Amino acid sequence: MTPEIIVFKEIVDQRGGLVALEEHKNIPFTLKRVYYIYGTPTDCRRGFHAHIALRQVAVCVKGTCTFLLDNGHGKVDVCLESPDKGLLIDKMVWHEMYDFSEDCILMVLASDIYCESDYIRDYNHFLKAVH
Ligand code: TYD
Repeated sequence: MTPEIIVFKEIVDQRGGLVALEEHKNIPFTLKRVYYIYGTPTDCRRGFHAHIALRQVAVCVKGTCTFLLDNGHGKVDVCLESPDKGLLIDKMVWHEMYDFSEDCILMVLASDIYCESDYIRDYNHFLKAVH
């Protein structure tokens, strides 16, 4: 599968950088939730699920980490290493995150509030659902 990376406009001056994220502009959905993951041990792998309807954009605002994306037909690994890039995690894409740097802060913008019933946490169930 081909990952969709959104490159955000950076506003940089002598004071540093600034990136603005706006729904239906550089984020391709209505924004309902933001969460962030930090302090992840470098040998930890997390995620291991797909969402039935939720769409998300992941931004590594500090440090680096890698995503495995799998749409059931192909897989791709994507390293996030810059706060001016967002990775679209579309609905029905199995995803895992790994190789977190010690300082990694991974921010995720989501199209809906948290809802456990939107998760598919069983990989075989995911494959059946997409095929
Ligand atoms: P989980 O989805 O398992 O994390 P990941 O898949 O990224 O490794 O979430 C961990 C816990 O946090 C789980 O108990 C659900 C809870 N949670 C919320 O309460 N709200 C949220 O927005 C998210 C993403 C998770």
